[in-house]
Amino acid sequence: MAKLIVNTEKKGAKINRNIYGHFSEHLGRCIYNGLFVGKDSPIPNVNGMRTDVVEALRQIRVPVLRWPGGCFADEYHWKDGIGPKEGRKRMVNTHWGGVVEDNSFGTHEFMELCRQIGCEPYVNGNVGSGTVQEMSEWVEYMTFDGVSPMAELRKQNGREEPWKLTYFGVGNENWGCGGNMRPEYYADLFRRYATYVRNYGDNKVFKIACGPNAGDYEWTDKVMEIAGKYADALTLHYYTLPNDNWQEKGAATGFDEETYYRTLKKGLRMEELVSNHLSIMRRHDPEGRVGLIVDEWGAWYDVEPGTNPGFLYQQNTMRDAVLAAVTLNIFNSHADGIVMANIAQMVNVLQAVVLTEGEKMLLTPTYHVFDLYKEHQDATLLDSYVEAHEIGVGDQKVPSLHQSASMDAEGRIHVTVANLSATESQEIELCVSGKENASISVRLLAGAMGAHNTFEAPETVKPQNFTGFERCGGSVKMTLPACSVAAIALE
Ligand code: AHR
Repeated sequence: MAKLIVNTEKKGAKINRNIYGHFSEHLGRCIYNGLFVGKDSPIPNVNGMRTDVVEALRQIRVPVLRWPGGCFADEYHWKDGIGPKEGRKRMVNTHWGGVVEDNSFGTHEFMELCRQIGCEPYVNGNVGSGTVQEMSEWVEYMTFDGVSPMAELRKQNGREEPWKLTYFGVGNENWGCGGNMRPEYYADLFRRYATYVRNYGDNKVFKIACGPNAGDYEWTDKVMEIAGKYADALTLHYYTLPNDNWQEKGAATGFDEETYYRTLKKGLRMEELVSNHLSIMRRHDPEGRVGLIVDEWGAWYDVEPGTNPGFLYQQNTMRDAVLAAVTLNIFNSHADGIVMANIAQMVNVLQAVVLTEGEKMLLTPTYHVFDLYKEHQDATLLDSYVEAHEIGVGDQKVPSLHQSASMDAEGRIHVTVANLSATESQEIELCVSGKENASISVRLLAGAMGAHNTFEAPETVKPQNFTGFERCGGSVKMTLPACSVAAIALE
């Protein structure tokens, strides 16, 4: 029996709801077909946005959505995506799959998508191949309330009022696809570009600098040293690949136990990365004014057989659910430093929460984890501890259990815990100080490590209400099935 202790007296920071954010790129079938089908599609839509997908996303309370990339952001010229659709430029999306990009989804459509989902927009600007003027004018177009050339253009395109835009990224992966820059060069460019990202009226832009790839600590150090005082946040990108080989990353389904643990072990590296980058950031910014944003994270596998390799379409199993659970627990536990995170990507790409095929849609195991974890949004982190032991195969060792806990504005406690074992159920005894007599509800997501939903069987993996717990004095005992994620609420 493993004890899981939550100390309600020891409160941490508020868990920024934006930790539960998402990312959507002009890549494969994420935007086109996944989120946006156009007004004339036979697939039910509102202003071109898929009704089924938008409804599913509202259910998990998506707080923020990043767009248009990714690598696409540093090739994107926003003026190509405004105005009458028939006049918009058609071009080839050279980075992702060599397909025609007709720019029918642009700034107005993205803002409409965010309105329908009920989330905040996070727009990523182009440093790699765009100009300072172009970036500056985009912000003016979106947010200027008054007489100006870009405000006039926006009005001509049918939008009278400016939009509220808080989050703006100045470049993406500028150490790689965004220009192959050195940190010193990017940091200087950030200072220059960010100068012209203006605050108009009462719109205050939160300026996001391109941060490191995984363990590139030099990038963080240099960018913080040179540009930290001009930035509100720095990004981190970290993907979990079962194999350290981009040509053979490993399959999304049909993997063995050793690969399961290897994947989780790699995912758990997020803890070390976040801690180390935050401590470098704090050396330059002792007050912690600059936040960390993990705006690309998730599992990256080989594409599904027979699909366009440039579309990054992959299935999603209980392994991904457990990976999402431990990652979100890690983010919660760093609530004092992480101000946003965006899983890559929202629909049909990488560790997606929704998959579509024509008019069909399914919710992935990862979607259900976001559903189970949504009560942590804006709640206060609580100190928690679980008696975990090491499990795994060979060198691929991970902790048996992984948890986080929070208290919401109404004083309800939410505990999320994952059983990482692929084969063994685990008994836990939950003790929450001051909540010995609270009423309890549990939702549980469980399945074999490779279990997943298909368009033929879309509900193979879905959460259940779980009543098989036992109250024992002031604590609660329950058995977590192998490979499972539980959300326990006490009120
Ligand atoms: O999410 C897919 C790609 O991964 C993004 O475009 C890029 O930023 C990263 O390398």
